[in-house]
Amino acid sequence: MNFGVILAGGVGHRMGADKPKQFLHIGEKPIIVHTVEKFALYRGFEKVIVLTPEEWIEYTKDVFEKYLGNMDNIVVIQGGAVRNETIMNAVRYIEENYGLDDAVIVTHDAVRPFVTYRIIEENIAAATEFGACDTVIPATDTIVESDDGQALSCIPDRSKLYQGQTPQSFKAAELKATYEALTEEEKEILTDACKIYVIKGKPVHIVKGEPFNIKVTYPYDLTVAETLMKGGRDV
Ligand code: CTP
Repeated sequence: MNFGVILAGGVGHRMGADKPKQFLHIGEKPIIVHTVEKFALYRGFEKVIVLTPEEWIEYTKDVFEKYLGNMDNIVVIQGGAVRNETIMNAVRYIEENYGLDDAVIVTHDAVRPFVTYRIIEENIAAATEFGACDTVIPATDTIVESDDGQALSCIPDRSKLYQGQTPQSFKAAELKATYEALTEEEKEILTDACKIYVIKGKPVHIVKGEPFNIKVTYPYDLTVAETLMKGGRDV
């Protein structure tokens, strides 16, 4: 059984708007609507679980009703204090309502509205076969490393470097077990769910992302997103 897990539990400090950035508009609709709509219309999900800060749950439900009507395959629940805790809230919801036995979760940033059906489909296939996968694109710029912020310490080989995007997808039972095996200190440091697997020596398969699968983080990204939307990238 596959579940879409839309991560909207953040408040968007870097955007600095009067509401969390997932509720800002691109074109006609809030960002979160563009994103959730793709998951909700995809036929392969039993449920699409959307996680927001507690005080934004009712607002989110109202927004969905306004723009999406009454889609009964969407549920809105409370996110966590950090990103991985938001994911774990979704895992707990699935465990309580469906059981985790054959559950695969496709976790996706609410603020990446340009995800494609090809990416979603390949995530489900890879997580089902390999247990975990990450969506990435090859690094285009040379990435340099500096230990002190003053001088370069290393220039890694670009042919081995990728930029991480989302979705990141997992067999839910294995993710839960791996997460629960972390110390409290590790839980604080590991903001990326795939990193949990990597530090525990577990394989994470690669799914090819898209350069336009951008994350809206800063006001500048909103301008880029508007342009992409006008260029017909919302498909
Ligand atoms: N997220 C989440 N739960 C959290 C923190 C973040 O579900 N406790 C989600 C965000 O809502 C966003 C995604 O994870 O969709 C990517 O995180 P980021 O871009 O860092 O979002 P924010 O935490 O909202 O932004 P900022 O760091 O600027 O406050």
